[in-house]
Amino acid sequence: MNTSSQISGFYRLSVEERRQFVVDWAALTAEQAATLESGLTLAQADKMIENVIGLHALPLGIATNFLINGRDVLVPMVVEEPSVVAGASFAAKLARAGGGFHAETTESLMIGQIQVLGLTDLSAAAGRVQAQKQRLLDLANRTDPVIVSLHGGARDIETYQFAASPVGPMLVVHVIYDCRDAMGANMVNTACEALAPLVEEITGGRVNLRILSNLADRRLAVARCVVPAAALDTADLPGAVVAQRIVEAHALAVVDPYRAATHNKGIMNGIDAVVLATGNDWRAIEAGAHAYAARDGQYRALSEWSLTAAGDLVGSLELPLAVGTVGGATRVHPTARVALQIMGVTRARDLAEIIVAVGLAQNLAALRALATEGIQRGHMALHARQMAIAAGATGDEVERVAAAMVQERVIRGDRAAQLLAEIRRLLTRGASGADKNPE
Ligand code: MEV
Repeated sequence: MNTSSQISGFYRLSVEERRQFVVDWAALTAEQAATLESGLTLAQADKMIENVIGLHALPLGIATNFLINGRDVLVPMVVEEPSVVAGASFAAKLARAGGGFHAETTESLMIGQIQVLGLTDLSAAAGRVQAQKQRLLDLANRTDPVIVSLHGGARDIETYQFAASPVGPMLVVHVIYDCRDAMGANMVNTACEALAPLVEEITGGRVNLRILSNLADRRLAVARCVVPAAALDTADLPGAVVAQRIVEAHALAVVDPYRAATHNKGIMNGIDAVVLATGNDWRAIEAGAHAYAARDGQYRALSEWSLTAAGDLVGSLELPLAVGTVGGATRVHPTARVALQIMGVTRARDLAEIIVAVGLAQNLAALRALATEGIQRGHMALHARQMAIAAGATGDEVERVAAAMVQERVIRGDRAAQLLAEIRRLLTRGASGADKNPE
């Protein structure tokens, strides 16, 4: 079996052929293979959230070509937007020409916040908290002996003073908590709630909020890649020019929040798709990413692009990635488990390293398209197909309507409906003999 993730013509296979390829590639069991088709059951869904009445499916695609820390990876992506999976795969191929992605993570440290109000001397209260740090850590660690046995648990206690707020002065106690392979929201929230009475006793104040922070800036993931300029050659432009234009495109996202929001949205196209595929909390990841993008006071690009002395393109991406491989939907959702198996990951940090690499690849794909032919050309065929389906096309009609719209370069719902009506009229006339030459 070929173990490279560089698979030529993967997109040309049928859905069944692609699935069988991945089943063999990742050595999935028959049960796991069946899960790719059946997905979540209604009974499982009913245990996940409240008031369930059905399931809402999304496409699960596979991004190819990823080489991350020297390891070939097929990446499951769940996303409704065309071109995302193709873009990630294409950019992974470009990065592969320079040795692939190099990714790493910090420790899995989350932050829990305990808000203390009603204090007159914040510094004195903060001093008392620091003096009782060990007592607080010991209590926090008694709330979850399992994570402690896995070498995780509460690591540190910090204090932050806000002399002025809309409701007066407040002290915020941070609990720094090592969540190991869990996302950790539950264990951090449990620890914060358990610590609240002791924090009140130590400070003499009143505790209000006890909740984790999604600005997980002690749980960062970073990916880097070098793309040889020659790999960026297009039919119209030499790669060195494309590389320079990508750097220029990035510069706008450094100085302008209007562009940075779109630039980062492109990064999150890739990140969210893997986060969703693995049953992780994409709202938490989104919140952390955007807060991190504004960490110096101005909202900016999360990635960086520059040129080497030789003119090759260097990219990097750093952001908080609080993802888990155990607990929550990751454990309950059968397809999420298979997604982890396809990537061959069991540790949260390995998953985060893949996700950050996909984010960087997605950003590269978008910038390369924007800096060259524009985003619409690649988008058009799939978008046209979606429009055709929305207009009611089925079977062969989908390709016929889509192809006609791409040729006309008019991709609109009303045009799809007109073309569909024309195709059907022609077919009806053909079937009734109206088109036949009487001779
Ligand atoms: C579209 O989903 C994402 C892009 O707008 C990202 C970008 O502009 O960098 C293409």
